[in-house]
Amino acid sequence: MPFQALIYEKAEGLAWVTLNRPDRLNALNVQMRDDLHEVVSAIRDDPDVQVVIFRGAGERAFCAGADLTEFGSAPSPVIARQVRWERDLWGLLLGLSKPLIAAVHGHCLGSGLELALTCDLRVAADDARFGLPEAGLGIIPAAGGSQILPRVIGRARGLDLMLTGEVIDAPEAYQTGLVTRVVPRPELFRQAEAIARLIMERDQAVVRAAKEAVIRGLDLPLAEGLALEATLKYRQP
Ligand code: COA
Repeated sequence: MPFQALIYEKAEGLAWVTLNRPDRLNALNVQMRDDLHEVVSAIRDDPDVQVVIFRGAGERAFCAGADLTEFGSAPSPVIARQVRWERDLWGLLLGLSKPLIAAVHGHCLGSGLELALTCDLRVAADDARFGLPEAGLGIIPAAGGSQILPRVIGRARGLDLMLTGEVIDAPEAYQTGLVTRVVPRPELFRQAEAIARLIMERDQAVVRAAKEAVIRGLDLPLAEGLALEATLKYRQP
């Protein structure tokens, strides 16, 4: 069944997930959230998928955040919370053992940035712009953003973006460590694929062990992180 709000393609171990509402700058609506939940569940369970690249359709955006037209449209806060609990897209993404890459062009705002933050690597086109408008809308970035962003770029810079709502461009995102590479816009998807292919040349069990070591270890004191490392497979004998 094709998805309504995204395009899913898979070839030779590489999966592409394209957010596909270009006339709405790929704003994340309920349909897209449900489509993403379905596709990410399938990716988790599909042994043929080794690496995933997320990207946005159209010329203007990776994703301009949550769909503002749906704000406050849930039947009740209780139902909204229940649905969120039942379809925990963000928990699902953060629990994936496969490497995830965000290939970001144009606007990358709000939950679009939070989606990119659930990825392991972020590659930016030189026209990419990143920001968190939530505080200006009376909410906090609550799809993991308030926790992951400071872990990626540090407490002060994270709070700066969160509290001011200032939008930063690709070079600044690179300087802060929010993205690991900036490439010319026409080369974005080719470069993201090249990175994915490099990762896919490795033993995927090793790749997953390395990801697990980093992600679980980052939340631990150093001594416990080293103890965790000692328990993982694929260490030098
Ligand atoms: N939700 C719903 N629709 C959105 C959207 C969003 N988050 N972001 C953009 N769109 C729609 C616009 O309403 C517009 O629709 P229209 O053509 O029917 O008028 C279309 O996408 C194009 O956006 P537009 O605002 O015309 O483009 P722009 O270049 O002038 O501005 C942005 C681009 C990203 C600065 C601006 O669209 C914006 O501020 N979007 C909202 C960002 C936001 O607050 N996200 C929520 C975070 S919680």
